[in-house]
Amino acid sequence: MTALTLSTAAAPGLRADAIVIGVGKGGKGPVVAPGADAVDKAYDGRLAGVLETLGASGAEGEITKLPAPAGFKAPLVLAVGLGAEPEEGEEYGAEVLRRAAGVAARALTGAKKAAFALPLADAADAGAIAEGALLGAYSFDAYKGGAKDAKGKAPLGEVALLGGKPRDKEHKAAVERALAVTEELNRARDLINTPPNDLDPEAFAAVAQTAAKEHGIKVEVLDEKALEKGGYGGILGVGAGSAAGPRLVKLSYTHADATKHLAFVGKGITYDSGGISLKPAGHNETMKCDMSGAAAVFAAVVAAARLGLAVNVTGWLALAENMPSGSATRPGDVLRMYSGKTVEVLNTDAEGRLVLADALWAASAEKPDAIVDVATLTGAMVLALGSRTFGVMANDEAFRSAIVEAADEVGEPSWPMPLPEHLRKGMDSPTADIANMGERMGGGLVAGLFLREFVGEGITWAHLDIAGPAFNEGGPFGYTPKGGTGSAVRTLVRLAELTAAGDLG
Ligand code: BES
Ligand code: MN
Ligand code: ZN
Repeated sequence: MTALTLSTAAAPGLRADAIVIGVGKGGKGPVVAPGADAVDKAYDGRLAGVLETLGASGAEGEITKLPAPAGFKAPLVLAVGLGAEPEEGEEYGAEVLRRAAGVAARALTGAKKAAFALPLADAADAGAIAEGALLGAYSFDAYKGGAKDAKGKAPLGEVALLGGKPRDKEHKAAVERALAVTEELNRARDLINTPPNDLDPEAFAAVAQTAAKEHGIKVEVLDEKALEKGGYGGILGVGAGSAAGPRLVKLSYTHADATKHLAFVGKGITYDSGGISLKPAGHNETMKCDMSGAAAVFAAVVAAARLGLAVNVTGWLALAENMPSGSATRPGDVLRMYSGKTVEVLNTDAEGRLVLADALWAASAEKPDAIVDVATLTGAMVLALGSRTFGVMANDEAFRSAIVEAADEVGEPSWPMPLPEHLRKGMDSPTADIANMGERMGGGLVAGLFLREFVGEGITWAHLDIAGPAFNEGGPFGYTPKGGTGSAVRTLVRLAELTAAGDLG
């Protein structure tokens, strides 16, 4: 991964491939953002005019390259647009900085080292810039280079953050936090991007085991035999058609001073073909992303451990491959779930809720203070909220609001969604306690209502449907690459931090 350090060096003397500066969109043209004073001075204070001559406006995401002024060791100045200049007395927001740093890091693919001289008002800004740069520099090329020249340029090698205070406790902590969170988030992206022939439930569980040992997290893996013995009919039913058996992974991070216990539950379908209710071509090419929820939970638990948060966090990864075969669950089959409830499977493509149901019930048995599940659960949520926003449902309105707020704080767009009671009867089954499908309209909410049935009595619970933002099929933007995005990781980490600080629940 890209290396990052806080540096007190002055821009002119810095040996680097480029100096990154910010440029805002002012009322009368581009405005050089704070942090770039040394560069502006070397241009005799005419940098804004130079940028305007080059066609820069300061629009968000815009990149303008110019030769560094005489006397600079770096050859290039890279100006990144920050969007509207803040009002008098206000600063650029954290998410603006995160995105700008991400855009700059991507524009510098192939470079060895860059100095970031972006506006940095406090420790939180240093953390945001670090996060944006480290997330933006991500690339996944593990499967490229069979023919050597097919390999793309290497990601930006090193970032020196200028304007931060390397000896200040808060600045140091903010950068340390950014390093831990982005490293785990980028690992989640790797897992999501790994093709499903190389990442089946067993392989995912092995990765989780290795990481857990490294970070002092207790790990338990239930394989097919153990799942059979325990009565996990949902996870087994979904995995029944695959040659690769399902797994339930439990990761327990505990802290001696913890007074609260959070459970995170992730949907981990390593490939979703739809099963016997097979998806048509055009709908299955990206379904390796269907374990994004489990990847997010895994990353968040490891990040919580690395940050030493004073909260107990249990992560549950419900791993299975959804495949059609002679041993696969059929539409019409009835599964006896871990909770004891029976489910009539009307559509084997509604598999996420089945594996989650068992994991939610297992999580509930420990009576945590709250459960949050994360899942690429429904196409309906993508239709409702688009490809960048996740939906938040909950059995507690205050908790739902707290999650939307936490997500907003870390720069993850989300939106509260309801659980309308009248949609429950659509899942009534003549044969079993409930069917795994209901009305088509409001399909994302129907899925949420199904999950709610498997949450233990009196436990605060929320459900994050990340089907839209989990996997970016378009071009990269801000600090978000093409492919696996690591959606929800930062929201979960923030929830753990807020809980540790006693600011949640
Ligand atoms: N994994 C899919 C949902 C999905 C769709 C994720 C698009 C990411 C992008 C899920 O298992 C699924 O197939 N859901 C069905 C449910 C339906 C059969 C009730 C859906 O949304 O169509
Ligand atoms: Mn499906
Ligand atoms: Zn699925």
